[in-house]
Amino acid sequence: MGAIITGTGSALPARCVTNAELAERIDTSDEWIVERTGIRQRYIAGQGETTATLATEAARQALSAAGRSAADIDLIIVAKTSPDNSFPASATKVQALLGAPTCAAFDVQAVCSGFVYALSIADAMLAVGSARCALIIGAETMTRLLDWEDRTTCVLFGDGAGAVVLEANDDPARGIIASRLHADGTQAPMLYADGGVSTTQTTGMIRMAGREVFRHAVTNLAQVLTDVIADAGLNSSDIDWVVPHQANKRIIDATVKKLGLPAERVVMTVDRHANTSAASVPLALDTAVRDGRIQRGDMLALEAMGGGFTWGACLLRY
Ligand code: ACO
Repeated sequence: MGAIITGTGSALPARCVTNAELAERIDTSDEWIVERTGIRQRYIAGQGETTATLATEAARQALSAAGRSAADIDLIIVAKTSPDNSFPASATKVQALLGAPTCAAFDVQAVCSGFVYALSIADAMLAVGSARCALIIGAETMTRLLDWEDRTTCVLFGDGAGAVVLEANDDPARGIIASRLHADGTQAPMLYADGGVSTTQTTGMIRMAGREVFRHAVTNLAQVLTDVIADAGLNSSDIDWVVPHQANKRIIDATVKKLGLPAERVVMTVDRHANTSAASVPLALDTAVRDGRIQRGDMLALEAMGGGFTWGACLLRY
């Protein structure tokens, strides 16, 4: 059994904040942010908008695109870094909001790589028959983890959610073909939140060694993409679209250049969404599906890297 994406969806908070608006409050400029990151704006969650509400909105869209209802779902995984509560899992909140059956529902914490991790886990569960119709969501309210006094991090992140419906399918020519997941816990001090339930009893705020993260991201992402393409017995020229984690335009450009892939085959949404952590890959995927760039039958390469460090890639025939 393979796993195919039968529908995608996404959701953004109502409020869009431009670089110019940030520059009124923080010692930064539109020029600096655009030149160093490619980011022009981000969406910031307001009152009543949470990781779970954004996830639910994205899930409803994905279900509608797949021609499915909540009653069909037998697995829900939410990838997130910024949950509504320390527990229960955001996935169970989404389950309740959707009115889905009492199926398995749990969260995955792999920071920005969370969606790629969740997709790979769901693929394995569908392959052994423990689910047939799964809802895989990446959702975040990362701006609630920001230190607004730290201009080196607060300009980089945004909020949002993306979702896919993943269904079991026995057509070997379609669906998820290969995936690879990695982590290196020794690099945790490079990117982390300086708080947590068991340490400070606070959520903490994002701390990052930007240059180090940048260097590791390009190396690790280029390698994992090369490996997953080789696992599938393909060449980089077989990839129709790279759907990368949207952290920084320069990271994306440098990574695809290492693979010899042209910029025209990369879905870039970092300018509009900024870095939405686990939401960024499914948000970019849904954007390119809805604007008609990604077509049925296209070979997609999804990749992400985040705190941990964690990183991974997934190849699929859409
Ligand atoms: N506005 C204006 N100036 C700034 C800002 C800002 N927002 N932030 C930093 N600067 C200044 C610095 O203080 C520094 O000034 P100085 O030279 O007087 O000391 C100067 O800009 C250069 O700073 P650098 O940190 O060297 O800038 P760099 O070119 O490395 O860009 C950035 C910083 C954008 C954070 C980059 O390192 C990066 O993108 N790293 C990857 C981090 C990332 O994407 N993290 C997301 C999570 S992980 C992931 O998703 C892969």
